[in-house]
Amino acid sequence: MKDGENVIIHGASGGVGSLAIQFAKLRGARVLATASSAAGMEFVTELGADMAADGRHGDIVATAKTFAPDGIDAVLGLVGGDSLERCLDTVRPGGRLAYPNGIDPEPKKRRSIETVPYDAVAGVKEFERLGRAVGGEAESSDRRSIRAHRSREGARAPCCRGCVGQDRASSPLARAGME
Ligand SMILES: NC(=O)c1ccc[n+]([C@@H]2O[C@H](COP(=O)([O-])OP(=O)(O)OC[C@H]3O[C@@H](n4cnc5c(N)ncnc54)[C@H](OP(=O)(O)O)[C@@H]3O)[C@@H](O)[C@H]2O)c1
Repeated sequence: MKDGENVIIHGASGGVGSLAIQFAKLRGARVLATASSAAGMEFVTELGADMAADGRHGDIVATAKTFAPDGIDAVLGLVGGDSLERCLDTVRPGGRLAYPNGIDPEPKKRRSIETVPYDAVAGVKEFERLGRAVGGEAESSDRRSIRAHRSREGARAPCCRGCVGQDRASSPLARAGME
């Protein structure tokens, strides 16, 4: 996402969407978030969405036109079906769609929209990358416990049972490329 891009997060009040709103805002995007109830729309607004729309009963095409008269740059589709197809009707040529595998039904392919289906990957590297992307440093629990141990014992002491009798170069931190 680029600064100033107009994005729709469709199904934004759920687990993935509530994080996606905050991430998109951090990246400088303008967010039109859809939910399926008044409470959901209030929730997505509290999370930072610039505009909320009822994705089940509302007129998403008209709302998107007001939100971005030149067209939507990107959609994150977290709910499939007709409501997602209506969101895609508002995307400018050359715009993008990302959706996690599992939404049902899957969106129909459109020539003018770059489409990226994805599967979430949860791992140490991914969370560290996410941490950097949101401006913090996400530390793995391994790294945290090694550091905590080290600060208790003093920086020169072996950092764990595994490195007693070894020099620092062969410590777990060094082996992991963390020092
Ligand atoms: N492949 C992967 O790695 C992966 C990973 C994570 C998630 N997923 C998939 O991604 C999808 C989203 O996951 P999630 O955890 O965020 O699900 P979720 O928590 O159920 O969120 C979906 C949200 O969409 C709302 N909604 C339903 N119909 C709507 C409509 N027509 N317009 C606007 N909002 C609508 C729901 O609100 P109400 O409940 O009030 O209707 C709900 O808050 C799921 O299909 C899941 O299987 C895939």
